[in-house]
Amino acid sequence: MSGERKIKTKIYRVNPDEPESLFVDEAAEVLRAGGLVAFPTETVYGLGAAVHRREGLMKIFTVKGRPADNPLILHLYSGGQLPEVAVEIPSQAMLLAEKFWPGPLTMVLPKKDSVPIEVTAGLPTVAVRVPSHPVALRLLEKTEIPVAAPSANLSGRPSPTLGSHVITDLDGKVEMILDAGATGVGVESTVLDLTGEKPRILRPGGVTLEMLEDLLGVGKVEAPSFIAAERPLAPGMKYRHYAPDAPLILFTGERTKVVSVLKEKISGEIAAGHKVAVLAFADDGPFPPEAIFFSLGKREKPEEAAERLFASLRLCNQEKVETIYAVAPSRRGVGEAVFNRLWKAAGGNVVEVK
Ligand code: TXA
Ligand code: MG
Repeated sequence: MSGERKIKTKIYRVNPDEPESLFVDEAAEVLRAGGLVAFPTETVYGLGAAVHRREGLMKIFTVKGRPADNPLILHLYSGGQLPEVAVEIPSQAMLLAEKFWPGPLTMVLPKKDSVPIEVTAGLPTVAVRVPSHPVALRLLEKTEIPVAAPSANLSGRPSPTLGSHVITDLDGKVEMILDAGATGVGVESTVLDLTGEKPRILRPGGVTLEMLEDLLGVGKVEAPSFIAAERPLAPGMKYRHYAPDAPLILFTGERTKVVSVLKEKISGEIAAGHKVAVLAFADDGPFPPEAIFFSLGKREKPEEAAERLFASLRLCNQEKVETIYAVAPSRRGVGEAVFNRLWKAAGGNVVEVK
């Protein structure tokens, strides 16, 4: 259950350009002693516990209200630490590490025996990444030990891309929060399984299919449709995620048709006295002014949508809207990750405009 702990949380502002801060050193001590520290990464904020402190690992699940069968990602400061946590590391993993670390790529590899069950949820594999945020890197280096960290939100809520999101969810429940402002990429890392015949994307994220294929070759990476998948790929993908409080309806299809259907729908809702939000691209409007408009940025720049998505969903909660209408992005580049998160937030509420 979440919310059981009631402690005094230390909240420190850290300048991402000056990660060599005493606050970060103190955070490393907290981790080494088995405490929980929320810290920025280049994707979303993480809630860390040192891998050798089982009580810390268990607290992550309690504090987040996270199901025990959803494994955690281990964060390293360097690819050189890989042999501490993984075995049978294929040459492709080394190639990927060299190209994309530090950065938003998580690799799933056979685990070393010493990695505790709380991290892997009993799986024979372990997920690892080296984040590129300077504060995360400094913290990991100071801690020395790999740090398990899921996103620093309460389970089911949109992932935190601002320190204030973390404070809203975790103040009073964790030992320390390092607030370094906005994260950057805005959606979580790509999870890539390297234990099968062919590398396989389990969760689309900051490192795109196109980027992986550039390195490994076209057709050399499996990107199964998460929609068609009969069973969840990454264990965590089966849970309702990124869910705003209000129902979200995702509209897919040709842009002009989608926009005109949406405008009509929203006008109807407004006329009926409902409070609605619309998540659409900057030039999709204008929508009726009574609707709360959240811009996903420029349509041809999905990075902007990635950066804004979770914050917009959180604002929808704050505004207590009754329904959220969202326009699907194109599924190129990081657009695939944005599409994936919106699709999950919609929980099956997808309208294909023909
Ligand atoms: O960008 C990120 O990855 C952020 C930052 C904090 O690093 N972390 C993050 O963690 O998104 P979390 O716990 O919210 O998501 C981890 C995902 C889940 O879907 C989980 O099921 C999957 O990774 N995962 C972890 N270990 C796995 C394993 N051994 N095999 C397959 N999937 C795994
Ligand atoms: Mg998460």
